[in-house]
Parts: sequence; C-alpha cells; structure tokens
Amino acid sequence: MTCVGIGAHRGTLRVIAIYPGTFDPPTNGHLDLIQRGAKIFDQLVVAILGNSEKTPLFTLEERREMLVECTGQWPNVRVESFQGLLVDYARSLGAQAVLRGIRAVSDYEYELQMAWMNRKLDPSLETVFMMPAGAYSYLSSRLVREIASLGGTLASMVPASVESRLRARLGVAGPPISGRK
Ligand code: PNS
Repeated sequence: MTCVGIGAHRGTLRVIAIYPGTFDPPTNGHLDLIQRGAKIFDQLVVAILGNSEKTPLFTLEERREMLVECTGQWPNVRVESFQGLLVDYARSLGAQAVLRGIRAVSDYEYELQMAWMNRKLDPSLETVFMMPAGAYSYLSSRLVREIASLGGTLASMVPASVESRLRARLGVAGPPISGRK
C-alpha cells in the first residue's frame, strides 16, 4: 500500500511554525509555550505584531530584545516582528503552522474565531493549540503589567530581566528580585 498525505513526506518536510503575539511583555507562560513548540516544530518563529490596535507599554524593539534574551537556549527558535495579516507573513516565511496557547476555556472562543478566520484566509495554514503548564493558566501580560504598576511581586511570572525592565518603565519598586524564590 502506498502512503499518501503529510506522513509520507515527513522525512523531508521541515515544519516551520509561527508563534504570533503582542508579548507586552513576554511572560513565563509565553516561554513555556515556546519551549513546548520548539520540541515539536523544526523551526519556531516568535513573531511580534508591529501594527497592533493596542498601545503597548514596550516598543517593538524592546519586546524583541526581551524575547531574544529569553529564548537563546533554543537553537531552532528565532524572534521576528511582522505587520499586516498573519497569513501573508506566514506565506512569506513558508510557514505551515501557527502556534497559539490556550490557558483556559475563556481563551477558546477568541482563539477559535481567529483560527477559523485564518483558515478562511489561507486554508493551507494550520493552527496548532498547546496548553502551557497549569501554573501559568491564569497568567497574562495584562495582569503582569497591572501587578507591576501596583508594586506587587512578579516571582515566577516573568524572567528577572523582564521584571527589571517593567519596574524601570513603570517607576514602581517591587520586592527585591534577588530575594525571590
Ligand atoms: O498576543 P495577542 O494580542 O493575543 O496576539 C494577537 C495576534 C497578534 C495573534 C493577532 O492579533 C494577529 O494575528 N494579528 C495580525 C493581523 C491579522 O492577521 N488579523 C486577522 C487574524 S484573524
């Protein structure tokens, strides 16, 4: 029997996936997902959206620097930024998949809508959902920004380098980073 379909080509096919997002700032939840994605895709491109409707706390370049600092240990991960439609960017990279994280049921509706819309725009692009570790199921960049602005602890929510940048940007001191567990 002759095998057809993706399995038949898997020996030579190199799967490039994009992990798109705003990353304002990157959190340990994002890094957890990047680590998981790096294990199953040949190349993972962490792609920061440049033309978001949101007004970010960090510039595109700052977010890129933070992500580069935090992802250096995975050789098949690189950080880029993009403008415009995700499907167009994916096509320009030759990417076959989009990686998105689902933390809880509340994420599902928004993510499903985006995945369906991306499929409508480009049926050849697959969306792959992965769950971060349970410890990150309630973590979001928005809450991290809020906690930082109110001087709360960010222990185990963001890398120390991101925490330093947050504190500096917001001008609000928090518990000492060195003393955290
Ligand atoms: O981290 P976020 O803010 O949830 O990421 C949202 C993102 C960047 C994945 C989404 O807004 C996106 O892909 N924007 C690019 C523009 C686009 O393609 N829009 C149609 C998608 S359905």
